[in-house]
Amino acid sequence: MVTFKSLFCGAGGDAQGLTEAGFELVLAANHWPRAIETHAANFPAAEHLCADINNTDMRRLPTTDVLWASPICTEGTPAGGNAGKRSTRMDGQLPIEAFGHIEQAGFERTRATFHDVIRATEIHGYKVVLVENVPDVAWRWELFDWWCQGMIRLRYRMQIVCATSAHLGGDGNEPAAQWRDRLYLCFTRDGIPEPDLTVNPPAWCHKCEADVDAVQTWKPGTMRILGHPTGPNPVSASATGANPWPTPRCSASRPDWRNSRSSARC
Ligand SMILES: C[S@@+](CC[C@H](N)C(=O)[O-])C[C@H]1O[C@@H](n2cnc3c(N)ncnc32)[C@H](O)[C@@H]1O
Repeated sequence: MVTFKSLFCGAGGDAQGLTEAGFELVLAANHWPRAIETHAANFPAAEHLCADINNTDMRRLPTTDVLWASPICTEGTPAGGNAGKRSTRMDGQLPIEAFGHIEQAGFERTRATFHDVIRATEIHGYKVVLVENVPDVAWRWELFDWWCQGMIRLRYRMQIVCATSAHLGGDGNEPAAQWRDRLYLCFTRDGIPEPDLTVNPPAWCHKCEADVDAVQTWKPGTMRILGHPTGPNPVSASATGANPWPTPRCSASRPDWRNSRSSARC
């Protein structure tokens, strides 16, 4: 079985997905006792570490095939008080002051937790490293490109997926009934085949009057990393030219309404 550890584990959303995919959770770590308590209740068979990962000697952690890491992301989101502070820096472009100045102080914690991923990878040489964050980190954190290069220097190939959870699913795995824009970075060690991470959500095509597998497309001139569902259209079926938008699941389909007084409508 493929083993993994989860750094910055939360309540266990990532571990739930990976275990449902057949992976075995070995260790989950977080510095927040309530998160560890919750995670341990959800995954009693795994080891749990309640510690500040910034100050953890990675050699103390068990080696696994895969690392999943969710560095903190509140600094890169409107929820973290950063609405509107967007650099116009293009993907891969070096920081240039003329393109706008990014405030640095706000990214101290993000930087520290991203660096933990490199520290762990250098010690454990995982086969695959999966990193989850908000899309904004790619253009708001000025060291993002440099950090990616660090992973590549450790002999990993990088794949980027930027999508909303409402568009991610598959057989036996319904998409989330919510808009949740996320950036997923998949680093595969040299010599290991890269997974197919194409995002093909089903969408109604009005031209062929059928559900089609939509493909992600990007407006010319925009960054490859783009995840806001109300922004420039990231998903269309270019084969038909019909530009269908995948139908998200109704959020009212998730709660158990049986004991509520009002009825839910989709
Ligand atoms: C975005 S949540 C991760 C959610 C998780 N991916 C899931 O599916 O449930 C990030 C977590 O990192 C934890 N965290 C932040 N800084 C940390 C640090 N220095 N050491 C350990 N945990 C940290 C926070 O307590 C928070 O629960």
